Amino acid sequence: MIQKSQINELIKDYDKDDITVGTIGSHSALNILKGAEEQGLNSLCICTKDSKITYESFEVGDDILTVSSYHEILNKEIIEKLKQKNTILIPHGSFNAYLREKVLDLSLPIFGNRSLLTWETDREKQRKWLNQADIKLPETYEDPSKITSPVIVKFPGAKGGRGYFLANSEESYHEKAQKMIKKGLIKEKELEKAHIQDYIIGVNAYPHFFRSKAEEELELLGMDRRYESTVDSMGKIPAQEQLEINPNPTYTVVGNFPVTARESLLSEIIEMGKRVVKTSEEITDPGIVGPFCLETVFTEDLEIYTFEISARIVAGTNVEIPNSSYSYIKHGEKMYAGKRIAKEIIDCKNSNKLSEILS
Ligand SMILES: Nc1ncnc2c1ncn2[C@@H]1O[C@H](COP(=O)(O)OP(=O)(O)OP(=O)(O)O)[C@@H](O)[C@H]1O
Ligand SMILES: [Mg+2]
Repeated sequence: MIQKSQINELIKDYDKDDITVGTIGSHSALNILKGAEEQGLNSLCICTKDSKITYESFEVGDDILTVSSYHEILNKEIIEKLKQKNTILIPHGSFNAYLREKVLDLSLPIFGNRSLLTWETDREKQRKWLNQADIKLPETYEDPSKITSPVIVKFPGAKGGRGYFLANSEESYHEKAQKMIKKGLIKEKELEKAHIQDYIIGVNAYPHFFRSKAEEELELLGMDRRYESTVDSMGKIPAQEQLEINPNPTYTVVGNFPVTARESLLSEIIEMGKRVVKTSEEITDPGIVGPFCLETVFTEDLEIYTFEISARIVAGTNVEIPNSSYSYIKHGEKMYAGKRIAKEIIDCKNSNKLSEILS
């Protein structure tokens, strides 16, 4: 794992007046690259042959670096090229998906606290972080015999919740599990790793936060909800037909919608964000830096349950270009996650705090 001191050495050699913001061409790269451009930084997109078309057609990214697979960004030559351009990498969801814990070895400055990226891919670590921050989490169960109310059963590494199922008793758990195995959606062995969690009835909202080191404050940048196939299509099928076709609801994210919360909920949302920041400082120095997101369910009693945290920019912030209601109220100008990241880099550069936001 690369040490913070090595990153500090690296940025000593950087020309701070010629910084390049770099990222992988997927997830929220349009957001990140447009933000860099609008703040006057250089921008570079690392693309595969297939993803290039998007960034070329929107004309974002001063440079496009084509690789045959994203693993190539671990190669010496590519790293050297990126260093020459004084590149700061902005991690997003695809970094976790493609690089996993290899992201820890990448010898380039990364925006934010890279060790927290590995916390978000580990459900147990996530729970520890959120519990310590006094965030309300759905109850989890070690054993299916403990199921007495509706639960959602999740599996590690599931893409878009394929194979996840709902159950409300030990019997229905086993029945559904066998059905999923028969359909080839999960393997018998995976059942040992099943994560059984109370199913919270309510609506989803994903608040997007930004923890600024330059301003020493926490901002609520916006909020979204997801458009998920197939769960979001269930309401279009009458109950009788649902019983006949017996569909398996999955949660493949297809897009996002912006959300503004009932105003009286904001104080609780902001307090939750602050507690998450405070705890992050206790678990890894210097805590969370830049964007993060809580995946929550709001119940009819206006209780907020959080079932996941993302310790980096989330794709839901893409709905906020050029601004969300909240970012406009706060900044009085167009502001969105990608642009806010670039602004933070510039502000920290100007106040000699760059090393505090890079890892
Ligand atoms: N405890 C819960 N109660 C109600 N709904 C839930 C709960 N946990 C998850 N969901 C629903 O299931 C979906 C997928 O859950 P989750 O985010 O945990 O899966 P995931 O595999 O981590 O997916 P992703 O990586 O895309 O976020 C959520 O978007 C939400 O709609
Ligand atoms: Mg999730």
